[in-house]
Amino acid sequence: MKKGLLVLWLCCLSVLGVAQSPQRFFPKELLTQIGVYYYPEHWDESQWERDIKKIADLGFEYIHVGEFAWVFMEPQKGKYDFRWLDKVVDLAGKYKLKVIMCTPTSTPPVWLTQKHPEIFIRNSEGQTAFHGSRDNYSTSSDVYRKYTAQIVAELGKRYGQDARVMGWQLDNEPARSVDYSPVSEKKFKEWLKKKYVTISALNDAWGTKFWSMVYNDFNQVRLPNSRLQYGPSPHAVLDSRRFSADQLAAFLDFQAQTLRKYIGKEQWIMTNYTSLRDDPGYDPQRTNNLDFTCYTNYPVHGTGEMLGDKGFRVGSMATLAFMNDYYRTVRGVYGVMELQPGQVNWGSINPQPEPGAVHMWLWHTFMGGTTLNCTYRFRQPIYGSELYHYGIVNTDGVTPTRGGLEFSKYIREVKELRKQYKPNLAPPASYTNRRTALLMSIENFWDQNIQRQTSQWQPYDHVTKYFKAIKSLGAPVDFVTEQSDWSAYKVLIVPAYQLVDKELIAKIRQYADQGGQVVISCRTGHKDKNGHLWQAKWAEPISELIGGDVAFFDLMMPTTEGEVSFAGNSYKWNNWGDVLQPNPSTQVLATYTNQFYNGSAAVSQAKQGKGTVTYIGVDTNSGELEKAVLQKVYQGIGIQTTDYPAGINVEYRDGFWVAVNYSSKPYTLPLPVTSKILVGEKVLPSPGVTVWTE
Ligand code: GAL
Repeated sequence: MKKGLLVLWLCCLSVLGVAQSPQRFFPKELLTQIGVYYYPEHWDESQWERDIKKIADLGFEYIHVGEFAWVFMEPQKGKYDFRWLDKVVDLAGKYKLKVIMCTPTSTPPVWLTQKHPEIFIRNSEGQTAFHGSRDNYSTSSDVYRKYTAQIVAELGKRYGQDARVMGWQLDNEPARSVDYSPVSEKKFKEWLKKKYVTISALNDAWGTKFWSMVYNDFNQVRLPNSRLQYGPSPHAVLDSRRFSADQLAAFLDFQAQTLRKYIGKEQWIMTNYTSLRDDPGYDPQRTNNLDFTCYTNYPVHGTGEMLGDKGFRVGSMATLAFMNDYYRTVRGVYGVMELQPGQVNWGSINPQPEPGAVHMWLWHTFMGGTTLNCTYRFRQPIYGSELYHYGIVNTDGVTPTRGGLEFSKYIREVKELRKQYKPNLAPPASYTNRRTALLMSIENFWDQNIQRQTSQWQPYDHVTKYFKAIKSLGAPVDFVTEQSDWSAYKVLIVPAYQLVDKELIAKIRQYADQGGQVVISCRTGHKDKNGHLWQAKWAEPISELIGGDVAFFDLMMPTTEGEVSFAGNSYKWNNWGDVLQPNPSTQVLATYTNQFYNGSAAVSQAKQGKGTVTYIGVDTNSGELEKAVLQKVYQGIGIQTTDYPAGINVEYRDGFWVAVNYSSKPYTLPLPVTSKILVGEKVLPSPGVTVWTE
């Protein structure tokens, strides 16, 4: 390439923000940087300096501002007022705090919504949102984009070269269920035209011969709506989820592109996604112009896994561990923007977290490799819809809450740990050898949620079952995609990967041929990427790979239990059981021991080139069978595993081992005699954390 062209190409890449690794923004020796959300617009100006000084005194290193402050930044159309924000940034600078500046697009001001009510989102029952809350705008609206571009550009011009601003957050917890507004309907047609080109291709993909749904023209097509119509085409519903996530990603990419015109190279851009648990209306893999992604999490709010009597006050180990590993592998770097500081207000039941839980959660986010630890929010609100939500200080605005003190403790510990950081320390081989790839695509979650087949099936819970098993074997996990390079991993888990194509099957096969150990679970390979079943034997595209057929699957009633036997132990199952017919050369590892298929195979293992493919057709209640089979797979290639009890997670990062305990009992860590404990003790309390070096 000619030099001029090369320079131009590099410039383009840097405008697109894809040229360099996001790690460059985060000096390794800082490990993580800790901050807090602050809403100056909620408090009298006379208190700002007191608050910001207090934030600094507690040890925080930055404040996070502005994500809901559009009306204060632009009180009237085109009339900007950044004096208040300037003052806040000055105060932050005075107390040596950095700033994360946010774009305020999740809360359009009333002058905008009154002038342009067409920007509002519409739900599946045809009701249109209105002013008075947040996240009420359509990501498809060009009108909204125009106003977004203006406010984002003004912010970029004002703070894009300001060294006190470390980076930018776009919007807030961007997520959308399908938007039925007229503009979204219009954009859906355009999206479909681009995807299918001809209407007959759409008719084929959506299976419109079924129930006489055939279209003659793209203009006739509407967003499928399962509230207003019984049983819309599942293929259309899947497309509507893809469309929705694409619109959201495009809106974020648009904001990032706008901002990049004004900001310096040292400032980064990210957004803060939330949990992937409940049929997520976003896909973090779909944005192209963000430097990295962050997550938000509130472990204790009355639902989810609860281990023992303290479980409801500490939450589930798997939640933060899953988010660490998922978000880290989206762009190689992740941050935690919101982490519960205490009791919240929006759960079904909102208990107090157990003393020590906030501190443990912080270390838990740390151990996955987070570069940013931020929390919602500094002061507990005394008005507005989050009245009972704790902050770092309580309602008087000055007294630290228990969670605030736990944050402060963590900050002191991290600052001590930084002194112990040794660059270029190789991670222990015993840990990296176990590194496991977990193939996941949110499209599979969407597709399974369209037709669950049993109300007991939760795609996230199924993946989590495997995730927890891997963690209890002490293995680090990277979530991978169909496009990623899997060659660094000895084990690849493919849980309930329902939508497949030839390329994916060939890639998995090649991975196994070259010595990879593949573990595939039930529900894999049922459908093509449109969500159609194969005109072939059931799940036939994976037959060769798994060395046999899936004859049929069975589902149990809540009160009935299936039984399966593996290596002399019996396990109960209830959610899903694939009944297998392995080829003669395929080994049967587990069999069903009741129901009319008593004696049939439930788990099999086939040799594939230099590797193996294990198929686990059953989803057991405890996940213990899955764990035992995985253990056998690791053992088969000489990888030593551990056996941590439920609720214990141990990881290594940057020279430090960290262990956390979500169980309700103390746990004595099997530490080598050479280990040096830096935080906590050999006996992990419940909840608790230990940090050590070896
Ligand atoms: C998050 C949200 C914050 C705040 C918080 C309360 O989901 O991003 O703005 O509402 O919940 O827990």
